[in-house]
Amino acid sequence: MTPNQKLNHKVDIPICKNNETLFDALKVLNRVGKGIVFIVNEDEKLCGLLTDGDIRRLFLGENDLQTLLKNVLSPEFVYGSVLQTHEEIRTLLNQKIKIIPLVDRDMKIVDYAEYLPEIHIPITQPDLNGNELKYLTEAFLSTWISSTGPYITRFENDFSKYCGVNHGVAVSNGTVALHLALLALGIGPGDEVVVPDLTFAATINAVLYTGATPVIVDVEEDSWCIDPQEFQKAITKKTKAVIPVHLYGQPCDMYKIMKIAGNHGVHVIEDCAEAHGAIFKDQRVGSFGIINCFSFYGNKIITTGEGGMCVTNSSDLTEKMRTLRDHGMSRKQKYWHETIGYNYRMTNLQAAIGCAQLERIDELLNRREEIENTYRRQLREISFVEFQRNDLPHRKKVTWLVSALVKEDRRETVCEKLRAQKIDVRYFFYPLSKMDIYKKYTFSNENSLKLSEMGINFPTSGKLPGSELIEILSSELKRREKFNAVENTIGT
Ligand SMILES: Cc1ncc(COP(=O)(O)O)c(C=O)c1O
Repeated sequence: MTPNQKLNHKVDIPICKNNETLFDALKVLNRVGKGIVFIVNEDEKLCGLLTDGDIRRLFLGENDLQTLLKNVLSPEFVYGSVLQTHEEIRTLLNQKIKIIPLVDRDMKIVDYAEYLPEIHIPITQPDLNGNELKYLTEAFLSTWISSTGPYITRFENDFSKYCGVNHGVAVSNGTVALHLALLALGIGPGDEVVVPDLTFAATINAVLYTGATPVIVDVEEDSWCIDPQEFQKAITKKTKAVIPVHLYGQPCDMYKIMKIAGNHGVHVIEDCAEAHGAIFKDQRVGSFGIINCFSFYGNKIITTGEGGMCVTNSSDLTEKMRTLRDHGMSRKQKYWHETIGYNYRMTNLQAAIGCAQLERIDELLNRREEIENTYRRQLREISFVEFQRNDLPHRKKVTWLVSALVKEDRRETVCEKLRAQKIDVRYFFYPLSKMDIYKKYTFSNENSLKLSEMGINFPTSGKLPGSELIEILSSELKRREKFNAVENTIGT
Protein backbone atom coordinates (compact mmCIF):
# COMPACT_ATOMS: atom_id res chain seq x y z
CA MET A 1 0.00 0.00 0.00
CA THR A 2 1.43 3.34 -0.95
CA PRO A 3 0.95 6.24 1.40
CA ASN A 4 -0.70 8.18 -1.41
CA GLN A 5 -3.65 5.97 -1.63
CA LYS A 6 -5.94 4.42 0.87
CA LEU A 7 -8.31 1.55 0.33
CA ASN A 8 -11.38 1.86 2.46
CA HIS A 9 -12.67 -1.21 4.22
CA LYS A 10 -15.94 -1.44 6.16
CA VAL A 11 -16.93 1.96 4.90
CA ASP A 12 -20.05 3.81 3.96
CA ILE A 13 -19.70 3.82 0.18
CA PRO A 14 -21.57 6.69 -1.50
CA ILE A 15 -23.84 4.79 -3.94
CA CYS A 16 -27.05 5.73 -5.80
CA LYS A 17 -29.07 3.81 -8.38
CA ASN A 18 -29.39 5.32 -11.85
CA ASN A 19 -33.19 5.33 -11.59
CA GLU A 20 -32.94 7.59 -8.55
CA THR A 21 -32.95 11.39 -8.74
CA LEU A 22 -30.53 14.24 -8.20
CA PHE A 23 -32.27 14.80 -4.88
CA ASP A 24 -31.36 11.23 -3.82
CA ALA A 25 -27.77 11.85 -4.91
CA LEU A 26 -27.63 15.01 -2.80
CA LYS A 27 -28.83 13.06 0.23
CA VAL A 28 -26.03 10.52 -0.26
CA LEU A 29 -23.48 13.31 -0.75
CA ASN A 30 -24.62 14.84 2.48
CA ARG A 31 -24.56 11.57 4.41
CA VAL A 32 -21.19 10.27 3.34
CA GLY A 33 -19.45 13.61 2.94
CA LYS A 34 -16.94 12.53 0.32
CA GLY A 35 -18.03 14.98 -2.39
CA ILE A 36 -18.87 12.19 -4.83
CA VAL A 37 -21.62 9.64 -5.55
CA PHE A 38 -21.06 6.40 -7.48
CA ILE A 39 -24.00 5.41 -9.68
CA VAL A 40 -25.02 1.81 -10.34
CA ASN A 41 -27.55 0.34 -12.80
CA GLU A 42 -30.37 -2.11 -12.14
CA ASP A 43 -27.81 -4.96 -11.98
CA GLU A 44 -25.83 -3.09 -9.32
CA LYS A 45 -23.02 -2.50 -11.82
CA LEU A 46 -21.10 0.76 -11.80
CA CYS A 47 -22.30 2.98 -14.61
CA GLY A 48 -21.12 6.46 -13.71
CA LEU A 49 -20.31 8.93 -11.03
CA LEU A 50 -21.22 12.46 -10.03
CA THR A 51 -19.14 14.86 -7.99
CA ASP A 52 -20.66 17.73 -6.04
CA GLY A 53 -19.28 20.02 -8.77
CA ASP A 54 -21.07 17.98 -11.47
CA ILE A 55 -24.33 18.26 -9.58
CA ARG A 56 -23.91 22.01 -9.17
CA ARG A 57 -23.34 22.36 -12.90
CA LEU A 58 -26.40 20.19 -13.65
CA PHE A 59 -28.58 22.49 -11.57
CA LEU A 60 -27.18 25.49 -13.38
CA GLY A 61 -28.32 23.79 -16.59
CA GLU A 62 -31.86 22.61 -17.14
CA ASN A 63 -32.16 20.07 -14.35
CA ASP A 64 -34.03 19.98 -11.11
CA LEU A 65 -34.15 17.80 -8.01
CA GLN A 66 -36.34 15.25 -9.77
CA THR A 67 -34.01 14.71 -12.74
CA LEU A 68 -33.18 11.03 -13.09
CA LEU A 69 -29.52 10.21 -12.71
CA LYS A 70 -29.58 7.93 -15.75
CA ASN A 71 -30.40 10.97 -17.91
CA VAL A 72 -27.38 12.98 -16.89
CA LEU A 73 -24.58 10.43 -16.60
CA SER A 74 -21.54 10.81 -18.75
CA PRO A 75 -20.34 7.60 -20.44
CA GLU A 76 -16.77 8.48 -19.52
CA PHE A 77 -15.54 8.32 -15.97
CA VAL A 78 -12.54 7.10 -14.03
CA TYR A 79 -12.66 3.99 -11.89
CA GLY A 80 -10.28 1.34 -10.69
CA SER A 81 -10.44 -2.38 -10.18
CA VAL A 82 -9.50 -4.38 -7.13
CA LEU A 83 -7.63 -6.62 -9.55
CA GLN A 84 -5.20 -3.80 -10.27
CA THR A 85 -2.06 -3.26 -8.22
CA HIS A 86 -1.87 -0.44 -5.73
CA GLU A 87 0.60 1.29 -8.00
CA GLU A 88 -1.78 1.15 -10.94
CA ILE A 89 -4.60 2.53 -8.84
CA ARG A 90 -2.35 5.26 -7.52
CA THR A 91 -1.64 6.53 -11.01
CA LEU A 92 -5.37 7.14 -11.48
CA LEU A 93 -5.49 9.50 -8.53
CA ASN A 94 -4.22 13.04 -8.43
CA GLN A 95 -5.02 16.57 -7.19
CA LYS A 96 -8.06 16.70 -9.52
CA ILE A 97 -9.32 13.10 -9.27
CA LYS A 98 -9.25 12.60 -5.55
CA ILE A 99 -11.54 9.63 -5.17
CA ILE A 100 -12.53 6.73 -7.46
CA PRO A 101 -14.73 3.65 -7.06
CA LEU A 102 -13.07 0.24 -7.15
CA VAL A 103 -14.98 -2.59 -8.81
CA ASP A 104 -14.67 -6.35 -8.99
CA ARG A 105 -14.73 -8.47 -12.17
CA ASP A 106 -18.48 -7.90 -12.49
CA MET A 107 -18.25 -4.12 -12.26
CA LYS A 108 -19.78 -4.25 -8.77
CA ILE A 109 -18.44 -1.60 -6.41
CA VAL A 110 -16.53 -3.14 -3.54
CA ASP A 111 -14.45 -0.24 -2.31
CA TYR A 112 -13.02 3.11 -3.23
CA ALA A 113 -9.55 4.66 -3.27
CA GLU A 114 -8.72 8.14 -2.12
CA TYR A 115 -5.88 10.52 -2.89
CA LEU A 116 -4.09 11.51 0.28
CA PRO A 117 -1.20 13.87 -0.30
CA GLU A 118 1.88 12.88 1.68
CA ILE A 119 3.40 15.62 3.71
CA HIS A 120 7.17 15.33 3.63
CA ILE A 121 8.00 18.57 5.32
CA PRO A 122 5.94 19.03 8.45
CA ILE A 123 5.00 22.44 9.75
CA THR A 124 7.21 21.81 12.74
CA GLN A 125 8.90 18.99 14.56
CA PRO A 126 10.27 18.86 18.10
CA ASP A 127 14.04 18.93 18.44
CA LEU A 128 14.89 16.55 21.27
CA ASN A 129 18.61 16.22 20.69
CA GLY A 130 19.93 17.46 24.02
CA ASN A 131 19.51 15.86 27.44
CA GLU A 132 15.85 15.05 26.84
CA LEU A 133 16.29 11.29 26.62
CA LYS A 134 18.81 11.24 29.46
CA TYR A 135 16.55 13.13 31.89
CA LEU A 136 13.49 11.25 30.77
CA THR A 137 15.27 7.94 31.38
CA GLU A 138 16.43 9.13 34.77
CA ALA A 139 12.88 10.10 35.72
CA PHE A 140 11.61 6.78 34.40
CA LEU A 141 14.17 4.69 36.25
CA SER A 142 13.57 6.63 39.46
CA THR A 143 9.92 5.42 39.23
CA TRP A 144 8.76 9.01 39.87
CA ILE A 145 6.71 8.94 36.73
CA SER A 146 3.61 10.65 38.04
CA SER A 147 3.09 14.22 39.18
CA THR A 148 5.54 14.22 42.08
CA GLY A 149 9.28 14.31 41.52
CA PRO A 150 12.31 16.54 41.41
CA TYR A 151 12.04 17.52 37.76
CA ILE A 152 8.72 19.28 38.36
CA THR A 153 10.15 21.67 40.95
CA ARG A 154 13.27 22.17 38.87
CA PHE A 155 11.30 22.96 35.75
CA GLU A 156 9.00 25.35 37.63
CA ASN A 157 11.95 27.16 39.18
CA ASP A 158 14.09 27.31 36.06
CA PHE A 159 11.34 28.32 33.69
CA SER A 160 9.88 31.04 35.92
CA LYS A 161 13.41 32.38 36.43
CA TYR A 162 13.92 32.40 32.67
CA CYS A 163 10.81 34.58 32.36
CA GLY A 164 12.04 36.87 35.12
CA VAL A 165 9.26 35.85 37.49
CA ASN A 166 9.37 34.33 40.99
CA HIS A 167 7.05 31.33 40.80
CA GLY A 168 5.97 28.70 38.32
CA VAL A 169 3.05 26.26 38.52
CA ALA A 170 3.45 23.47 35.99
CA VAL A 171 0.25 22.06 34.55
CA SER A 172 -0.89 19.54 32.01
CA ASN A 173 -1.33 21.93 29.06
CA GLY A 174 -1.57 25.57 28.06
CA THR A 175 -5.36 25.65 27.99
CA VAL A 176 -5.69 24.61 31.61
CA ALA A 177 -2.92 27.08 32.52
CA LEU A 178 -5.27 29.83 31.29
CA HIS A 179 -8.23 28.30 33.10
CA LEU A 180 -6.24 28.00 36.32
CA ALA A 181 -5.08 31.63 36.11
CA LEU A 182 -8.65 32.86 35.65
CA LEU A 183 -9.90 30.70 38.53
CA ALA A 184 -7.15 31.85 40.86
CA LEU A 185 -8.14 35.45 40.12
CA GLY A 186 -11.72 34.60 41.07
CA ILE A 187 -13.12 35.24 37.61
CA GLY A 188 -16.50 33.69 36.94
CA PRO A 189 -20.11 34.31 35.93
CA GLY A 190 -21.00 37.99 35.55
CA ASP A 191 -17.41 38.99 34.73
CA GLU A 192 -16.09 40.00 31.33
CA VAL A 193 -12.69 39.05 29.94
CA VAL A 194 -11.27 40.73 26.85
CA VAL A 195 -9.55 38.46 24.31
CA PRO A 196 -8.17 39.12 20.81
CA ASP A 197 -10.08 37.91 17.77
CA LEU A 198 -7.04 36.34 16.16
CA THR A 199 -5.84 33.54 18.41
CA PHE A 200 -6.14 29.83 18.98
CA ALA A 201 -9.52 28.91 20.48
CA ALA A 202 -7.97 27.88 23.81
CA THR A 203 -7.80 31.54 24.83
CA ILE A 204 -11.55 32.07 24.64
CA ASN A 205 -12.47 28.55 25.73
CA ALA A 206 -10.66 29.02 29.03
CA VAL A 207 -12.78 32.12 29.69
CA LEU A 208 -15.97 30.24 28.84
CA TYR A 209 -15.03 27.37 31.20
CA THR A 210 -15.22 29.83 34.11
CA GLY A 211 -18.71 31.04 33.18
CA ALA A 212 -17.38 34.55 32.50
CA THR A 213 -18.25 36.36 29.26
CA PRO A 214 -15.48 36.80 26.71
CA VAL A 215 -15.32 40.06 24.75
CA ILE A 216 -13.58 39.67 21.42
CA VAL A 217 -11.64 42.67 20.18
CA ASP A 218 -9.70 43.35 17.02
CA VAL A 219 -5.94 43.08 16.51
CA GLU A 220 -3.50 45.68 15.21
CA GLU A 221 -2.88 45.65 11.50
CA ASP A 222 0.91 45.73 11.88
CA SER A 223 1.60 43.47 14.87
CA TRP A 224 -1.41 41.13 14.46
CA CYS A 225 -1.72 41.28 18.27
CA ILE A 226 -4.56 42.71 20.38
CA ASP A 227 -5.18 46.38 19.68
CA PRO A 228 -4.82 48.31 22.97
CA GLN A 229 -7.26 50.97 21.75
CA GLU A 230 -9.91 48.36 21.07
CA PHE A 231 -9.24 46.82 24.47
CA GLN A 232 -9.79 50.20 26.07
CA LYS A 233 -13.02 50.78 24.16
CA ALA A 234 -14.36 47.38 25.18
CA ILE A 235 -13.89 47.93 28.92
CA THR A 236 -17.09 48.04 30.98
CA LYS A 237 -17.79 47.90 34.70
CA LYS A 238 -17.82 44.13 34.40
CA THR A 239 -14.36 43.80 32.81
CA LYS A 240 -12.14 41.83 35.16
CA ALA A 241 -9.29 40.74 32.91
CA VAL A 242 -7.68 40.94 29.51
CA ILE A 243 -5.72 38.15 27.85
CA PRO A 244 -3.20 39.60 25.40
CA VAL A 245 -1.90 36.84 23.13
CA HIS A 246 1.64 37.19 21.81
CA LEU A 247 0.62 35.85 18.44
CA TYR A 248 3.06 33.85 16.30
CA GLY A 249 5.97 34.98 18.48
CA GLN A 250 5.16 38.72 18.34
CA PRO A 251 4.91 40.46 21.70
CA CYS A 252 1.84 42.62 22.28
CA ASP A 253 2.27 46.28 23.14
CA MET A 254 2.58 45.54 26.83
CA TYR A 255 3.28 49.14 27.74
CA LYS A 256 -0.11 50.35 26.53
CA ILE A 257 -1.97 47.28 27.72
CA MET A 258 -0.55 47.46 31.25
CA LYS A 259 -1.33 51.17 31.42
CA ILE A 260 -4.94 50.83 30.27
CA ALA A 261 -5.50 47.79 32.48
CA GLY A 262 -3.95 49.57 35.47
CA ASN A 263 -6.20 52.61 34.97
CA HIS A 264 -9.30 50.44 35.02
CA GLY A 265 -8.35 47.85 37.64
CA VAL A 266 -8.31 45.06 35.05
CA HIS A 267 -6.07 42.01 35.51
CA VAL A 268 -3.65 41.15 32.72
CA ILE A 269 -3.10 37.46 31.96
CA GLU A 270 -0.58 37.06 29.16
CA ASP A 271 -1.08 34.13 26.81
CA CYS A 272 2.53 33.34 25.91
CA ALA A 273 1.84 29.94 24.34
CA GLU A 274 3.48 30.97 21.06
CA ALA A 275 6.19 33.32 22.23
CA HIS A 276 8.60 31.81 24.78
CA GLY A 277 11.49 34.23 25.13
CA ALA A 278 9.97 37.17 23.22
CA ILE A 279 10.85 40.58 24.66
CA PHE A 280 9.01 43.86 25.02
CA LYS A 281 11.15 46.78 26.19
CA ASP A 282 13.93 44.62 27.67
CA GLN A 283 11.45 42.45 29.55
CA ARG A 284 10.50 38.91 28.62
CA VAL A 285 6.87 38.12 27.92
CA GLY A 286 5.38 36.29 30.87
CA SER A 287 6.66 38.93 33.28
CA PHE A 288 4.08 41.69 32.73
CA GLY A 289 0.72 40.30 33.78
CA ILE A 290 -0.38 39.16 37.20
CA ILE A 291 -0.37 35.53 36.04
CA ASN A 292 0.97 34.48 32.67
CA CYS A 293 0.48 31.26 30.82
CA PHE A 294 2.62 29.08 28.58
CA SER A 295 2.01 25.98 26.52
CA PHE A 296 4.59 23.26 25.96
CA TYR A 297 2.61 21.37 23.33
CA GLY A 298 4.70 19.41 20.80
CA ASN A 299 4.76 22.22 18.24
CA LYS A 300 5.84 24.93 20.67
CA ILE A 301 9.26 26.58 21.00
CA ILE A 302 10.07 24.31 23.91
CA THR A 303 7.94 21.27 24.50
CA THR A 304 7.10 18.68 27.10
CA GLY A 305 4.82 16.76 24.73
CA GLU A 306 1.71 18.17 26.34
CA GLY A 307 2.21 20.66 29.12
CA GLY A 308 1.87 24.19 30.33
CA MET A 309 2.83 26.60 33.08
CA CYS A 310 1.46 29.60 34.94
CA VAL A 311 4.12 32.04 36.14
CA THR A 312 3.53 34.80 38.67
CA ASN A 313 5.29 36.97 41.22
CA SER A 314 2.51 36.46 43.74
CA SER A 315 3.04 33.81 46.44
CA ASP A 316 -0.66 33.88 47.29
CA LEU A 317 -1.76 33.20 43.74
CA THR A 318 0.88 30.47 43.47
CA GLU A 319 -0.59 28.75 46.51
CA LYS A 320 -4.12 29.10 45.12
CA MET A 321 -3.07 27.64 41.79
CA ARG A 322 -1.23 24.73 43.40
CA THR A 323 -4.36 23.91 45.39
CA LEU A 324 -6.69 24.21 42.41
CA ARG A 325 -4.31 22.15 40.26
CA ASP A 326 -4.51 19.31 42.77
CA HIS A 327 -8.26 18.76 43.28
CA GLY A 328 -8.53 21.72 45.65
CA MET A 329 -6.75 19.67 48.29
CA SER A 330 -5.48 21.60 51.32
CA ARG A 331 -1.77 22.29 51.09
CA LYS A 332 -1.50 21.61 54.82
CA GLN A 333 -3.81 18.68 55.32
CA LYS A 334 -3.76 15.87 52.81
CA TYR A 335 -7.11 14.69 51.49
CA TRP A 336 -8.85 17.70 53.04
CA HIS A 337 -10.56 19.66 50.29
CA GLU A 338 -11.28 23.34 50.77
CA THR A 339 -12.44 24.13 47.30
CA ILE A 340 -13.52 22.24 44.21
CA GLY A 341 -10.37 21.81 42.23
CA TYR A 342 -9.08 19.99 39.19
CA ASN A 343 -6.45 17.51 38.20
CA TYR A 344 -4.26 19.83 36.13
CA ARG A 345 -0.89 18.41 37.20
CA MET A 346 2.15 17.90 35.02
CA THR A 347 4.10 14.64 35.31
CA ASN A 348 7.73 14.31 36.34
CA LEU A 349 8.35 12.69 32.93
CA GLN A 350 7.06 15.75 31.09
CA ALA A 351 9.02 18.07 33.38
CA ALA A 352 12.21 16.06 32.72
CA ILE A 353 11.84 16.78 29.00
CA GLY A 354 11.03 20.39 29.82
CA CYS A 355 14.24 20.82 31.85
CA ALA A 356 16.33 19.52 28.97
CA GLN A 357 14.49 21.72 26.47
CA LEU A 358 14.95 24.77 28.64
CA GLU A 359 18.71 24.20 28.77
CA ARG A 360 18.65 24.64 24.99
CA ILE A 361 16.09 27.39 24.61
CA ASP A 362 18.61 29.89 23.19
CA GLU A 363 19.82 27.35 20.68
CA LEU A 364 16.25 26.46 19.69
CA LEU A 365 15.27 30.11 19.33
CA ASN A 366 18.38 30.89 17.29
CA ARG A 367 17.73 27.99 14.99
CA ARG A 368 14.16 29.11 14.38
CA GLU A 369 15.31 32.66 13.77
CA GLU A 370 17.91 31.41 11.32
CA ILE A 371 15.19 29.54 9.43
CA GLU A 372 13.01 32.65 9.33
CA ASN A 373 15.89 34.78 8.10
CA THR A 374 16.57 32.31 5.32
CA TYR A 375 12.94 32.52 4.22
CA ARG A 376 13.12 36.30 4.32
CA ARG A 377 16.32 36.36 2.28
CA GLN A 378 15.22 33.84 -0.30
CA LEU A 379 11.74 35.23 -0.77
CA ARG A 380 12.49 38.92 -0.67
CA GLU A 381 11.78 39.32 -4.39
CA ILE A 382 8.31 37.86 -4.09
CA SER A 383 6.25 40.99 -4.01
CA PHE A 384 3.07 39.42 -2.74
CA VAL A 385 4.59 37.74 0.32
CA GLU A 386 4.86 40.06 3.30
CA PHE A 387 6.55 38.63 6.37
CA GLN A 388 5.54 39.29 9.94
CA ARG A 389 6.96 42.61 11.14
CA ASN A 390 10.24 42.29 13.01
CA ASP A 391 10.91 46.02 13.25
CA LEU A 392 8.16 47.27 15.53
CA PRO A 393 9.44 49.60 18.25
CA HIS A 394 10.25 47.95 21.61
CA ARG A 395 9.32 44.49 20.38
CA LYS A 396 11.78 41.67 19.94
CA LYS A 397 9.75 38.92 18.45
CA VAL A 398 10.76 35.28 18.41
CA THR A 399 10.08 32.82 15.65
CA TRP A 400 7.43 30.29 16.50
CA LEU A 401 6.08 29.45 13.05
CA VAL A 402 7.44 31.60 10.23
CA SER A 403 4.41 33.69 9.36
CA ALA A 404 3.54 35.86 6.41
CA LEU A 405 0.69 37.44 4.53
CA VAL A 406 0.17 36.31 0.97
CA LYS A 407 -1.53 39.16 -0.79
CA GLU A 408 -3.53 39.66 -3.96
CA ASP A 409 -5.75 36.62 -3.45
CA ARG A 410 -2.87 34.29 -4.13
CA ARG A 411 -2.86 32.40 -0.86
CA GLU A 412 -4.83 29.41 -2.05
CA THR A 413 -2.78 28.92 -5.20
CA VAL A 414 0.48 29.31 -3.33
CA CYS A 415 -0.56 26.82 -0.69
CA GLU A 416 -1.75 24.34 -3.27
CA LYS A 417 1.60 24.54 -5.04
CA LEU A 418 3.52 24.03 -1.84
CA ARG A 419 1.36 21.17 -0.70
CA ALA A 420 1.82 19.53 -4.08
CA GLN A 421 5.56 19.72 -3.36
CA LYS A 422 4.90 17.97 -0.04
CA ILE A 423 5.45 21.11 1.98
CA ASP A 424 2.99 21.47 4.84
CA VAL A 425 1.73 25.03 5.06
CA ARG A 426 -1.03 26.34 7.28
CA TYR A 427 -3.48 29.15 7.06
CA PHE A 428 -3.72 31.55 9.98
CA PHE A 429 -6.27 30.85 12.69
CA TYR A 430 -9.82 31.68 11.72
CA PRO A 431 -10.93 34.76 13.64
CA LEU A 432 -12.98 33.71 16.66
CA SER A 433 -15.67 36.18 15.56
CA LYS A 434 -16.32 34.13 12.41
CA MET A 435 -17.27 30.98 14.25
CA ASP A 436 -20.90 30.44 15.21
CA ILE A 437 -20.13 29.45 18.76
CA TYR A 438 -18.14 32.62 19.49
CA LYS A 439 -19.49 35.33 17.18
CA LYS A 440 -21.97 36.67 19.74
CA TYR A 441 -19.06 37.85 21.88
CA THR A 442 -17.61 40.10 19.17
CA PHE A 443 -16.81 43.72 19.94
CA SER A 444 -14.57 44.48 16.92
CA ASN A 445 -12.84 42.41 14.25
CA GLU A 446 -12.00 44.34 11.08
CA ASN A 447 -8.25 43.69 10.86
CA SER A 448 -8.57 40.14 12.12
CA LEU A 449 -10.91 39.27 9.24
CA LYS A 450 -8.50 40.70 6.66
CA LEU A 451 -5.36 39.17 8.15
CA SER A 452 -6.77 35.72 8.61
CA GLU A 453 -7.63 35.55 4.91
CA MET A 454 -4.07 36.26 3.87
CA GLY A 455 -1.94 34.67 6.55
CA ILE A 456 0.09 31.51 6.24
CA ASN A 457 2.57 29.70 8.44
CA PHE A 458 5.56 28.08 6.78
CA PRO A 459 7.28 24.96 8.11
CA THR A 460 9.58 25.98 10.93
CA SER A 461 11.50 23.17 12.47
CA GLY A 462 14.91 23.08 14.04
CA LYS A 463 15.52 19.77 12.29
CA LEU A 464 14.58 20.77 8.76
CA PRO A 465 17.16 20.95 6.03
CA GLY A 466 16.37 24.65 5.76
CA SER A 467 18.09 25.46 2.51
CA GLU A 468 16.61 22.50 0.65
CA LEU A 469 13.10 23.35 1.76
CA ILE A 470 13.44 27.01 1.02
CA GLU A 471 14.84 26.30 -2.40
CA ILE A 472 11.70 24.36 -3.29
CA LEU A 473 9.57 27.06 -1.80
CA SER A 474 11.28 29.93 -3.49
CA SER A 475 11.34 28.30 -6.91
CA GLU A 476 7.62 27.55 -6.60
CA LEU A 477 6.81 31.08 -5.59
CA LYS A 478 9.10 32.62 -8.18
CA ARG A 479 7.54 30.52 -10.89
CA ARG A 480 4.18 31.75 -9.72
CA GLU A 481 5.45 35.32 -9.74
CA LYS A 482 6.65 34.95 -13.34
CA PHE A 483 3.41 33.31 -14.36
CA ASN A 484 1.44 36.16 -12.88
CA ALA A 485 3.70 38.71 -14.52
CA VAL A 486 2.96 37.12 -17.90
CA GLU A 487 -0.75 36.97 -17.07
CA ASN A 488 -0.72 40.61 -16.12
CA THR A 489 1.14 41.62 -19.29
CA ILE A 490 -1.37 39.77 -21.39
CA GLY A 491 -4.15 41.42 -19.47
CA THR A 492 -2.91 44.96 -20.06
C1 LIG B 1 -2.33 31.22 21.72
C2 LIG B 1 -2.52 29.88 22.35
N1 LIG B 1 -3.09 29.82 23.56
C3 LIG B 1 -3.27 28.66 24.19
C4 LIG B 1 -2.88 27.46 23.64
C5 LIG B 1 -3.21 26.18 24.35
O1 LIG B 1 -2.14 25.39 24.62
P1 LIG B 1 -2.31 23.80 24.73
O2 LIG B 1 -2.43 23.29 23.36
O3 LIG B 1 -1.05 23.39 25.41
O4 LIG B 1 -3.50 23.53 25.56
C6 LIG B 1 -2.27 27.49 22.39
C7 LIG B 1 -1.82 26.28 21.75
O5 LIG B 1 -1.79 25.47 21.23
C8 LIG B 1 -2.08 28.72 21.72
O6 LIG B 1 -1.54 28.77 20.50
